Amino acid sequence: MNTVTNVRLTTAVKSNASLYKQVEDAFSILSALDLVNHINVIDRKKLTIRQLFQQDTTPLIVFESSGPKLYFTAETPIYFHLDTVKVKLQLMKQNKQPVLVEMVDYVAKDLPSFNFVDGTMGFGRDSYLILKTFKQATIYAIEQHPLIHYVISEGMKRYLDEETYKRIHFINDDYNKWVKRHPEVLDLLYLDNMFERTLDENDRMGELSKMTGTNQEIVSVSDYKYLIVKAHYKSPSFKKLKVTQCIRKSTKTHYGLKINHKRLGH
Ligand SMILES: C[S@@+](CC[C@H](N)C(=O)[O-])C[C@H]1O[C@@H](n2cnc3c(N)ncnc32)[C@H](O)[C@@H]1O
Repeated sequence: MNTVTNVRLTTAVKSNASLYKQVEDAFSILSALDLVNHINVIDRKKLTIRQLFQQDTTPLIVFESSGPKLYFTAETPIYFHLDTVKVKLQLMKQNKQPVLVEMVDYVAKDLPSFNFVDGTMGFGRDSYLILKTFKQATIYAIEQHPLIHYVISEGMKRYLDEETYKRIHFINDDYNKWVKRHPEVLDLLYLDNMFERTLDENDRMGELSKMTGTNQEIVSVSDYKYLIVKAHYKSPSFKKLKVTQCIRKSTKTHYGLKINHKRLGH
């Protein structure tokens, strides 16, 4: 499912030449996308976000010095933020590996290089975690929603040095379509359709799930070497994708791994 949308662009109330330039750049980038219909650049004046949503409910991207923020409603912006990733990276220093890192390590530790295809980029935290943890990985971060794709990729770029940035490709597409066109890069495919809620991000995840839908159709994909699925423990995804579900008693988030022996040649 590809989403077609309109969008409004504006700056923070306290604006400057750099933010105006970012609006201009965004206008030309977003105008080139088939999935973006109509773009309206608006003068922020002193208007609050709430006031900007009173007359018009079109999604709004606000350019602030900390990066672009996407509002679908006046309440909860969507943007790239490091909060939960930072915690995970800190825990790793104490040898506590996040499950996703353990799983990727299990399949890729002896590989001199590999591609990690994140089919459901969302806030980009998992892509960022793998990018930072595995220096031999090239990341393909796919997000179907054009505005989420734009703010998250623009936001994440600010946290990456030049070398690291070269190892991540941001793609605005439905992963089901994209993977069919690029079977050659599918070493490790990762799918996370789960809107996991943690205490500090209830609202943002809720906002993302409202906008992108929680019941995405799960289509079988077959051309990967390894598939990792993250989903709610009751999710039909594990069965549908024929992935072995790794049971974790203490949490509702489960992961599954499938090795495609045919593609590996054994
Ligand atoms: C639960 S979020 C992923 C969160 C992400 N793992 C993170 O670390 O922030 C799921 C995201 O996948 C996107 N998505 C769902 N189905 C997709 C598809 N078929 N192709 C590309 N993106 C998809 C949704 O728009 C949503 O942004």
